[in-house]
Parts: sequence; C-alpha cells; structure tokens
Amino acid sequence: MHSAQKGPSGPLWLFGYGSLIFRPDFPFTRRCRAFIRGLERRFHQGSTDHRGVPSAPGRVVTLVEREGASCWGVAYEVSSTVRDHVLGRLDVREKGGYERRAVRLHLRPTTEEAKQLTDGEVDGVVYFAAEGNINHLGPASLGEMAAQIARSVGPSGANSEYLFKLAAALRALDVDDPHVFELERSVRDVL
Ligand code: BEZ
Repeated sequence: MHSAQKGPSGPLWLFGYGSLIFRPDFPFTRRCRAFIRGLERRFHQGSTDHRGVPSAPGRVVTLVEREGASCWGVAYEVSSTVRDHVLGRLDVREKGGYERRAVRLHLRPTTEEAKQLTDGEVDGVVYFAAEGNINHLGPASLGEMAAQIARSVGPSGANSEYLFKLAAALRALDVDDPHVFELERSVRDVL
C-alpha cells in the first residue's frame, strides 16, 4: 500500500483518462496504470478550443457516474515542488468546462511499471466535466458521434487523431474500453 496524498504540500497523484494518457505535458516522478471506481469514460464533452472550434465543436472525453463502473487510465505522481504550477497550467489547458475532483486511485502497474511500483491505492485528483457545463454535449448515437469526430478539427489538431491516440494508448496499457474502440472503428469507416 502506498502512502496517501500528504495534503496540500505533499506530492500530487493525478489521474489521466483522456489526452493526459498520451500527452502529459508536465513533469512527473512516476507513472502507473490505474483505475477509478464508479465512473466511466464517455465522449460526452464538446471541445471548442482543442479538437473543435466554437462554431463546430469536437467531442472529447469526460467521466460519467455509474454504479459498478470503472475507468482505466494512468496515475502520475507530481512532486510537491511543482504540483501547484502543474495544476495551474492544467486549469488553463482544460478551462472548457472541466473542474478538479478528488478521487481514489487504484494503482495496477503494467509488467514493465511493476519494476518501480506495486498494486496499491492513493488519493488523487482528476479533471471532470460535469453535466450542464458550458460545453457539455451528452450522449448521441454511435453514428452521430463518429461523424462529429471525423469532421472536427481545432487548434490542437484533428478530433480523429485524439480518438486514435487515445485508443492506441489504451491498447498499450492492455485496457479494454468498448466505447472508445467502437468509436475508433466507426470513425475509421467514415474517414
Ligand atoms: C485526462 O486525460 O485526464 C483529461 C481529460 C479531460 C480533461 C482533462 C484531463
């Protein structure tokens, strides 16, 4: 068992389930596959500043509450010396409807990561876009979501690239996520 987050001045454990899995643009001391309980990854959030524009939003992931669900991703340990700076930068990067939320992380290192870390639990933080936020889109049919992702582009690049990179990163972690992989197949069919 790892020691829990040590309050405001200790290291931070940050959970990534979207772009933070494949583009963690901040310094971290350790990285480890992990999951959180009671939440699932869904392409229910509009993106007007990264993978779309205000007149044509893209679709990116947020977390949706569901009893019994779990969401797999990556836990990053961020040292106490840079944690406030990292959170400040992420608050700006993710300003389109996301807020921070405390969450319990279940660390499940891959075989490679297991050289550094063992299974355990830590308190951490996740960025979460709640229903009703300014860019919330909610559910749509698979075909509608795929079409929107296939046509959307924003300052950070094509929406389809975001989806494909996320799917590839989940595969590399040996994580199955039918929602992501079905969308990936549908977008490839459309493109
Ligand atoms: C993430 O990858 O954890 C993430 C997803 C959406 C917004 C911010 C972070």
